[in-house]
Amino acid sequence: MLAVEPEPYLRRHAERAAAAAPVPIRVVAARAESLPAADGSFDAGVVSLVLCSVAEPDRALRELHRVVRPGGELRAFEHVRSGHPLGARVQDALDPVWSRLAGGCHAGRDTTAAIVEAGFRLEDLRRFRFPPGVPTPTTPHVRVRARRPPTTVAAQPGSTVPVTSAGA
Ligand SMILES: C[S@@+](CC[C@H](N)C(=O)[O-])C[C@H]1O[C@@H](n2cnc3c(N)ncnc32)[C@H](O)[C@@H]1O
Repeated sequence: MLAVEPEPYLRRHAERAAAAAPVPIRVVAARAESLPAADGSFDAGVVSLVLCSVAEPDRALRELHRVVRPGGELRAFEHVRSGHPLGARVQDALDPVWSRLAGGCHAGRDTTAAIVEAGFRLEDLRRFRFPPGVPTPTTPHVRVRARRPPTTVAAQPGSTVPVTSAGA
C-alpha cells in the first residue's frame, strides 16, 4: 500500500502508524494532486478527511481516478458542504477565517459531486452529522463507496462494449 503525506511532522506520525499496521504501507512525501504511481496500479484508493485540505481537490480526484484500475474502488470519509442552503451559506461565509484557523481546511466543499465529476460512479453514499450535538462548519459528513467504471471500448460506430479488467 502507498500513503502520501506532504507535511513532514504529520508524515512522521503516519510512518509510525504505518509501521504498526498489519499490512505493509509505504508512506511517501507527495501531494494527492500528483501521485507517484502508474496508471491503474491500485485496486482501491482511500481518502479520509483530506479533500477538505488539499489545494486542488478536483485534480487530486482525477489522480485517484488515474491510479485506481478500471473497475476498482474509491472509499471516502470526508466532511462536506451542508445539504441545507443556509448551512452552506454559513460555511461559505466562515471560510476565509475557518481555513486560516484550521490549517487550510475548507468546510464547504461539495466533495461528493467532485467524486462523480472525476469519473467515479457512486455505489453507496451515507450522509450523517458528526459529532452529534452543537453544529460546527464541519458537522456534515459523508461516507462514500464509488467505483471507476470498467473501461469501455468502441465495438462499432455508435455502441460500446464494457471490458472488465480481470481476464477480459
Ligand atoms: C484535516 S488533516 C487530516 C489528517 C488525517 N487524515 C486525520 O484524519 O487525522 C488534512 C491532512 O491533509 C494533508 N494534506 C494537505 N494537503 C495535501 C495534499 N495536497 N496532498 C495530500 N495530503 C494533503 C495534510 O497534511 C493533513 O495531514
